[in-house]
Amino acid sequence: MRITHRSYARRCARGLSARRARLLSSDLLPLRLDVDKDYFGHPAFFERFAELRLEIGFGAGEHLLEQAVAFPSIGFIGCEPYMNGVASLLAKMVSTPVDNLLIFPSDALLLLEMLPVGRFTALYLLFPDPWYKRRHRRRRILRGEVLDIFARLLKEDGLLRWASDEPRFVASSLAACCAHPCFCWSANTPADWQDAPSDWCETRYERKAREHGREICYVNFLRY
Ligand SMILES: C[S@@+](CC[C@H](N)C(=O)[O-])C[C@H]1O[C@@H](n2cnc3c(N)ncnc32)[C@H](O)[C@@H]1O
Repeated sequence: MRITHRSYARRCARGLSARRARLLSSDLLPLRLDVDKDYFGHPAFFERFAELRLEIGFGAGEHLLEQAVAFPSIGFIGCEPYMNGVASLLAKMVSTPVDNLLIFPSDALLLLEMLPVGRFTALYLLFPDPWYKRRHRRRRILRGEVLDIFARLLKEDGLLRWASDEPRFVASSLAACCAHPCFCWSANTPADWQDAPSDWCETRYERKAREHGREICYVNFLRY
């Protein structure tokens, strides 16, 4: 079943510097996934990497780039509709170039159902927009029909990792993930969700949340 979708993510908040605008018009082109093209315009990428990982809402891209550097034999795909964030990642890639990362500069929900099934070993959603109000529940990314797609994309034992500082988002997302037949929460003790995982890379949003004294919940689900 295809999910019907209208995007609620911001595209651009403030003007881009001339340098960042240039990065978007030049450096993005060879890294951009374009769903109108055959195998999104990068068939060699999908042939080259047996293992893929996806980050949804990468923000300024610090976690995505650190992962891509740490695991050069894995192909990474990052989705981010906020063009200031995409430009921040491209700026980082000027000093830290990698050849195992592609960018979908748009809403992840427009891409998910087209991605290859059973090829992903990890999906990351770090501090997704919470949409905690009940009337906004259809906008939440961690909901049953999207979890069905995540379950199809992930290999057996694949990781669905998310983090949040918004208690109402945590409650509704834990309920949705725990209710899904394909996912199992890997936490055994409170430290498993109170402490960042050992392979964690701090994100910009996380740093701000910590500075404001907000408690962060780190959640890992495994695909059966
Ligand atoms: C609170 S920010 C967190 C950014 C980053 N992960 C971090 O931790 O710093 C949420 C991000 O998710 C992005 N986002 C929201 N809806 C999205 C969607 N449907 N697909 C992809 N990204 C989305 C937003 O543009 C924003 O950059």
